[in-house]
Amino acid sequence: MNILILGSGGREHALAWKIAGSPLATKLYCAPGNAGIAQEAECVPIDIADHKAVIAFCQAKAIDFVVVGPEAPLCAGIADDLEAAGIKTFGPGKWAARLEGSKGFTKDLCKANNIPTAAYQRFKGAAAAKDYVRAKGAPIVVKNDGLAAGKGVVVAGTIEEAEAAIDMMFGGALSEPAWEIVIEDCMVGEEASFFALCDGETAIPLASAQDHKRVGDGDTGPNTGGMGAYSPAPIMTPDMNKRVMDEIILPTVRALKAMGAPYKGVLFAGLMITEEGPQLIEYNVRFGDPETQVLMLRLMSDFLPALMAARDGQLKNFDLRWTDDAALTVVMAAKGYPGSYDKGSIIGGLDEAAQVEGVEIFHAGTKTDGKNILANGGRVLNVSARGKTVCEAQQRAYAAVDRIDWPQGFCRRDIGWRAIEREQ
Ligand code: AMP
Ligand code: GLY
Repeated sequence: MNILILGSGGREHALAWKIAGSPLATKLYCAPGNAGIAQEAECVPIDIADHKAVIAFCQAKAIDFVVVGPEAPLCAGIADDLEAAGIKTFGPGKWAARLEGSKGFTKDLCKANNIPTAAYQRFKGAAAAKDYVRAKGAPIVVKNDGLAAGKGVVVAGTIEEAEAAIDMMFGGALSEPAWEIVIEDCMVGEEASFFALCDGETAIPLASAQDHKRVGDGDTGPNTGGMGAYSPAPIMTPDMNKRVMDEIILPTVRALKAMGAPYKGVLFAGLMITEEGPQLIEYNVRFGDPETQVLMLRLMSDFLPALMAARDGQLKNFDLRWTDDAALTVVMAAKGYPGSYDKGSIIGGLDEAAQVEGVEIFHAGTKTDGKNILANGGRVLNVSARGKTVCEAQQRAYAAVDRIDWPQGFCRRDIGWRAIEREQ
């Protein structure tokens, strides 16, 4: 089979690495890819926002199956356009992608189906939103309805902060001002990332994972796309997994089917594990980054047939097998991230780092000048490792990090601390 992966991050490198190992994959392409993905796939410089160009490439190369990585093309309807052109695609259509593309849509769906999530209201103007905040009190959470590249959520500790967030979102401090916002109660608990492959009717959970969203050690500082992740997440006990499937994932899949837009793809639930049980923070319609990097390291089964079965409506009776080993990934980012940062610095020591036992290095923002690997983004590398325990995986990942020569980069030194505390 000829396969095309869309995207250019560490998530796509991990998917490419896994799919390249499938006996079913004869030729693998990635658009646009990165310097690490180029070791697994032929990278092609297509603008993936240009659906016509993607379709033309698929027709020229007789692509049998497309795997979409990021949310933006899904929300823009790339899966619909590819399928309409007769090209089989993993990922939901535009309508179902609203689960990520519109927080208001998801909150209404939760309310209508008794899916546990924070109480909320939707607002189209600042005045009513501020009245609501003053009536509710702080802490309170203010969210842009639409995609905002990780800048759409403010957890406000005071009413003043919440009011400032409302002004910021409607006032256009973001590249696009919000047309609608959601204000919701602040939930208290521990976060976890939950993934289920869905075929429109059936859903099968992937292994558990947690990521570290804050930029600094001890989970401090601004939010990022994710500074590291590990799997399994000890907080996700078998009982908790079952509750998430029964109370959150399966009611969502049933609801979308009943609405005439069966959900096919991966459903990524950001969860808050509260004292009352699991609550939905938000849905994403794609794999997590960097969670995918650790999941692929633990997945023993061939992933390609599972992705195809999700697209074909054939997940029933499907089984995925996971190693009992743990996996952990440390994100190395360019200094300055998640604020502004420089590109183009040279990264050395990657071959030495990859020799540490159990280590796989997935690239995110990298490119090559023909001779060197260069930093080309905010999150640049995912130094990942397997181990018998999260603790062992962490030691191996940091041993590899320490062999990487990149003075312009940084990483957190405490990835996995919650799981390691529980292991000890
Ligand atoms: P989101 O983009 O919706 O995942 O939100 C980003 C982060 O904001 C989450 O990972 C949580 O840490 C936090 N957050 C979002 N909504 C809530 C909430 N209702 N209560 C507490 N924290 C929240
Ligand atoms: N790591 C969180 C995300 O992919 O959104």
